[in-house]
Amino acid sequence: LKDAFKADFLVGAALNESQFTGSNAVEAALVKAQFDSISPENALKWENVHPEPDHYNFGPADRYVKFGEANHMVIIGHALVWHEQTPAWVFQDQNGRPVDRATLLNCMSNHIFTVVGRYKGRIKGWDVVNEALAADGSLRQSPWFKIIGPDYLVKAYQLAHAADPAAELYYNDYAIEDGPKRQGLIRLIRQLQAAGIHLTAVGIQEHANLNWPTPQAVDEAITMFHRLGVKVNITELDINVLPDAGAGNGADVGLNVASDPALNPYTNGLPASVQQALARRYAELFAVYVKHHADMERVTFWGVTDAGSWLNDWPVRGRTNYPLLFDRASQPKPAFISVLETAGQAKAARHQAAGASASLTGTAQ
Ligand code: XIL
Repeated sequence: LKDAFKADFLVGAALNESQFTGSNAVEAALVKAQFDSISPENALKWENVHPEPDHYNFGPADRYVKFGEANHMVIIGHALVWHEQTPAWVFQDQNGRPVDRATLLNCMSNHIFTVVGRYKGRIKGWDVVNEALAADGSLRQSPWFKIIGPDYLVKAYQLAHAADPAAELYYNDYAIEDGPKRQGLIRLIRQLQAAGIHLTAVGIQEHANLNWPTPQAVDEAITMFHRLGVKVNITELDINVLPDAGAGNGADVGLNVASDPALNPYTNGLPASVQQALARRYAELFAVYVKHHADMERVTFWGVTDAGSWLNDWPVRGRTNYPLLFDRASQPKPAFISVLETAGQAKAARHQAAGASASLTGTAQ
């Protein structure tokens, strides 16, 4: 993958601990062979790296960064300010009452300086704020918003920049490919820029399914964001092939397959027709990415093999999902081949364009 797209963008994967420590030797080898960028699936989230007020746990995160350095990969940081996987003590005092604005800003500052500072010059860029937008495009009513106010984003970016002035600063979110959330992000990017924040890139998570988002929507979203002067990265790509469990967006967490076996139809393998649909779907999305290669730095998958995908347990626990390019035995799926074919097509298109411009200037043949 990394070689096929060398002229287009980096190809990344989110790694779990068994991969970056090498305890899963097969998957660690697969990561080294296929990817030239890595993201930490959980190791740098607040609850893991900073579980208690005066206690940081850098063991796994250090191993993650060392793995990336040893293999000459572009190392990404994820995620500094988010409403999920952040301990309750960040937002509440010992009596369970919300802390005040100054306390939370101070806590955010300590966290960002300590975590970003530790990996200064080694982690290339950070998802400084993750998932700040609500479905209607307004700012999500998270504890960060409620306690600090809407300027919490500007503060977070200023702190991250101060902690490592060379680090790239990203805004990362899901379902920003279309609708009111896409418009909301356009407003948010403008507001951050007006406040003097140099946002390097927007991360489109791209947790897709077989029907959503349309390639047209992705194409438009990349164009619209890039027009504002930011790069656009695909940061958490996967394609859910299982039935929609209902409302989506977290509403179904906790549902169990035992309650409805129809939610888990492919426990004995993926039917060939769905396997082919997945391959076509990956190809149509990658066709959009290679079209925009000049506006993008990376396309990152959220996981390596189907065995480890978070989509086996979200939004319904205990399912058998098939969202990635490598199967449960770490073998390439038809979708892997179809993605590689889009790289070939991109190369051919570039070649043709180069030939055309050469013949215009009379240097062809
Ligand atoms: C997921 C991880 O993959 C899971 O292991 C964890 O239990 C929950 O979080 N958006 C994000 C990611 O930004 O951090 C999430 O990762 C998936 C959705």
